[in-house]
Amino acid sequence: MHEVSTDRVVIIGAGLAAVYAALMLSPCPVIMISPEPLGTGASSSWAQGGIAAAMAETDSAAAHARDTIRAGAGSVLSDMAAFVTKEAREHVLALQDFGTRFDRSDEGAFLLSREAAHSAARVVRVKGDQAGAEIMRALVAELRQTPSVQVVEGITAIKLESDGERVDGVHLSSAGSAGTGTVLLRGSAYVLASGGAAGLYDLTTNPKQVRGQGVGMAARAGARIADAEFVQFHPTSIDVGDDPAPLATEALRGEGAVLINNQGHQFMLEQHPDAELAPRDVVARAVYQQTQAGNRPALDTRASIGSDIVSRFPTVAQACIRNGLNPSTSPIPVAAAAHYHMGGVATDKTGRTSLAGLWACGEVASTGLHGANRLASNGLLEALVFARACARDIAPRIQSRDVGPVVLGLSDQARGDDPAAVAALRKVMTNGVGVVRDGDGLRLALSEIARLEAENTNSPAFLNMAAAATMIAAAALQRQESRGAHCRSDFPQAAPSPGQRSVLTLSQALDIRNTISKDFA
Ligand code: SIN
Repeated sequence: MHEVSTDRVVIIGAGLAAVYAALMLSPCPVIMISPEPLGTGASSSWAQGGIAAAMAETDSAAAHARDTIRAGAGSVLSDMAAFVTKEAREHVLALQDFGTRFDRSDEGAFLLSREAAHSAARVVRVKGDQAGAEIMRALVAELRQTPSVQVVEGITAIKLESDGERVDGVHLSSAGSAGTGTVLLRGSAYVLASGGAAGLYDLTTNPKQVRGQGVGMAARAGARIADAEFVQFHPTSIDVGDDPAPLATEALRGEGAVLINNQGHQFMLEQHPDAELAPRDVVARAVYQQTQAGNRPALDTRASIGSDIVSRFPTVAQACIRNGLNPSTSPIPVAAAAHYHMGGVATDKTGRTSLAGLWACGEVASTGLHGANRLASNGLLEALVFARACARDIAPRIQSRDVGPVVLGLSDQARGDDPAAVAALRKVMTNGVGVVRDGDGLRLALSEIARLEAENTNSPAFLNMAAAATMIAAAALQRQESRGAHCRSDFPQAAPSPGQRSVLTLSQALDIRNTISKDFA
């Protein structure tokens, strides 16, 4: 292992939060660590719906904040909701200035989609279901023209150098994960923007790179992790056996698509007054229950959208056609799939974490905006708001401007993870820490995670994933109530209001896990 020092700010990740933070930091020198070619491996590029923002004259940031708080099932921080929704409009306009081609009417107004639990059509979109890809295209093009940013691709962060109070380095590895061919990079500040943890489940809409490595790495460095138990399941992943599962955007339901089962019954009608547009956790549980009962739930777009689905929602239509389905003539089979981690590294309004020197933004962070159930299309918005907040907090500390490129000198090909161990971990999460949880299942999951971790101590990336899985399962065991996306069959009611956020360190989560593991020894 060798060491390299630079005056650049180190950004770990390559999705929307990472790219936007790098642009917002300009002209401060930045090095971005991207595991994949830029713009290809992050969840942001796959986002279909868009960005929630009160752009219509009839709408307001206050109404958006109210919807965010209501959807979040009693544990949204209201000042965060007010802060984020107030900034939404200017970030949409900034993206437009960076070249994002949002859908517009002939008169030039933003075309807005309606998504679940929003009281208004409020989601700025691109070609129906291509917002993430188009936003990333525009920002990556801008980034490539930004001289202050050095991008290194095919490199993965595997460990933060920390004494438990401060981060002052990051260990990097080429093309993967294991302990060979690593370098310790020391920079002027560290921004963790490495995405979420929903890929830790074996039924997920997330790319394979997004398996909780970032939150696990921060937890292992000693950072406080908030609301780890709150994992959002999307009700309409397309159920065709693909890993990851393609998504059928919620905007389809905003256009009138309905959920039916194999008896043709529209089952959301008896579940919630808003039926298909009920909060996402409610719809996800209903879809899950239909699947468990063998009723094969499906999204029927035929009457509401018909053959226009091909032009209006091309990503969804192509995913169907690729799998031999014709959504114009038959309903789309769906399943609830892990989609978004509301929990993550605890941050404040400036993106600071509990570790000095480390900021976090995007899905890896937990700001308190989402509570127990994220409002649709608030994810990209949060990434933008806190990427800029991080940049604004860091920039005044950075004096250097003219900094040469970093030469990492990584040449060894690192060994990858054991795919069988990763597959086993993902199964444990789906079976024991999934849509509906109970104490016995969570205890079993924690003991299985401990066993897998002990068998894979030579893989830092696996240790990061196992740490993230431990945080989620331990926090879920500790939360003895049902709230939003966290549903405990043994504690079906919510605790009296207000909902409390959970905050745990890895060492606290390991205490919980170790107590349980003894029972399974
Ligand atoms: C969707 O388009 O349904 C997903 C949007 C989101 O997760 O916010």
